[in-house]
Amino acid sequence: MSDDRTHDVVVWGATGVAGRFVAEHLTERYTPDELSLAVGGRSRERLGTLVDDLTERADAWEEIPTVIGDATDPDRMREIARETRVVCTTVGPYTTYGTPLVAACAEVGTDYCDLTGEVNWVRESIDRFHEVATETGARIVHSCGFDSVPADLGTLLLQSFAVETFGAPCEAVRIYLEEGEGGVSGGTLASFGELFEAVATDPLAERTLRNPYSLAPAGERSGVDPGEQRLPRWDPLRGAWTAPSPMAPVNERVLRRSNALLGYPWGREFDCTETVPTGTGPVGAVTAGAIAGGLGLFSGAMSVGPLRDGIRRFVFPEPGTGPTRAEADAGRFTVGLRGRGTAPEGTFTVEAEFGADRDPGYGATGQMLGEAAMCLAREEVDSPLDGGVMTPAAGIGLPLVERLRAVGFTIDVREAAEGRE
Ligand SMILES: NC(=O)c1ccc[n+]([C@@H]2O[C@H](COP(=O)([O-])OP(=O)(O)OC[C@H]3O[C@@H](n4cnc5c(N)ncnc54)[C@H](OP(=O)(O)O)[C@@H]3O)[C@@H](O)[C@H]2O)c1
Repeated sequence: MSDDRTHDVVVWGATGVAGRFVAEHLTERYTPDELSLAVGGRSRERLGTLVDDLTERADAWEEIPTVIGDATDPDRMREIARETRVVCTTVGPYTTYGTPLVAACAEVGTDYCDLTGEVNWVRESIDRFHEVATETGARIVHSCGFDSVPADLGTLLLQSFAVETFGAPCEAVRIYLEEGEGGVSGGTLASFGELFEAVATDPLAERTLRNPYSLAPAGERSGVDPGEQRLPRWDPLRGAWTAPSPMAPVNERVLRRSNALLGYPWGREFDCTETVPTGTGPVGAVTAGAIAGGLGLFSGAMSVGPLRDGIRRFVFPEPGTGPTRAEADAGRFTVGLRGRGTAPEGTFTVEAEFGADRDPGYGATGQMLGEAAMCLAREEVDSPLDGGVMTPAAGIGLPLVERLRAVGFTIDVREAAEGRE
């Protein structure tokens, strides 16, 4: 990448709920001497107000350049990509607004990271831009927020520890949404609605959600893992009941892509499941059933056109609304991971946790995306790939864990108490 680019990082969509958290994180954590930052969006006026707020909050910043354009204008996206080392975007729904920017970054060799959980759109991005991004050396790293950094990097950490300690990776990894306190924004729900709309109307999107390996490279889109859990289930590795996780359809596919892009270090038969643990005994079973039933009902309603339209129009809040800074600061989350593997001496169990004292989807997501952009801008990546459409684990890797620890995340890995058998 050439060094004559004007900006290290552009936070594109900085006037939105998630974008603002990213911009606040970067200006509070870094100084203008350390980072040449710009904020971007479609409204000069809203960007001006944002810059006033940011410079008031963070003493080190007297001014912050703004970059203005419409996300649907390919020429403008190309201009922005050309003058930037890393574009970090929160302009969603990505299915609606994201493609011209990815196309531009892939074409001109600019690194890119986003917050998408729209797997249908990630699949489109892989099919259309992986090859060109590989040629230009652009790192296009999708899903750098709560979807899918804790699951993806948590698994990378767990597997690296297993290989270092026992000489073998885990054959199975379970990811648990242990606890969380936080809000949801209109933009996230709009993106969720867009995903259901795509699945109902676009056969490729429907196939993407049906195939657990749909984000793997072309020619490698099959395997033994049956995909996400849909019913309550007793988890022997945890010793507890578990319910389906609403994020599993995204996170599990991202993990399978990571394994493939890394060259299958976790084995071709690697099996991963993300769930919500609900405890032991009848209460655990009933709670798991209630969560599974609720999710099933919601998905069912969202797959019926008129119901979906009604929910999107009358139930989901408007884009632009979401948690405040005070609400985000009061939140927290923990994602737990457990893995079981087989070494020459016998089986082993390892565990990890990945959490922060911030709302997962906004406060902590702002830090995750901001630090992902910093890894790309500083070329702090541990990846076998020089470019392409990537995941956080395969495109950035453990350097992002180090940066997140440095901003206060709790990220630990160890041998489980029951250890070796
Ligand atoms: N993975 C995760 O953990 C996670 C967490 C949070 C959010 N997200 C995702 O992040 C995305 C953003 O969510 P949000 O709640 O921040 O949404 P939001 O508040 O609606 O913000 C969207 C941003 O996009 C800008 N924008 C919209 N249309 C544009 C256009 N045509 N050209 C240029 N800019 C445009 C908006 O500008 P204006 O201010 O001018 O309207 C705003 O800055 C969603 O897709 C959401 O699902 C993911």
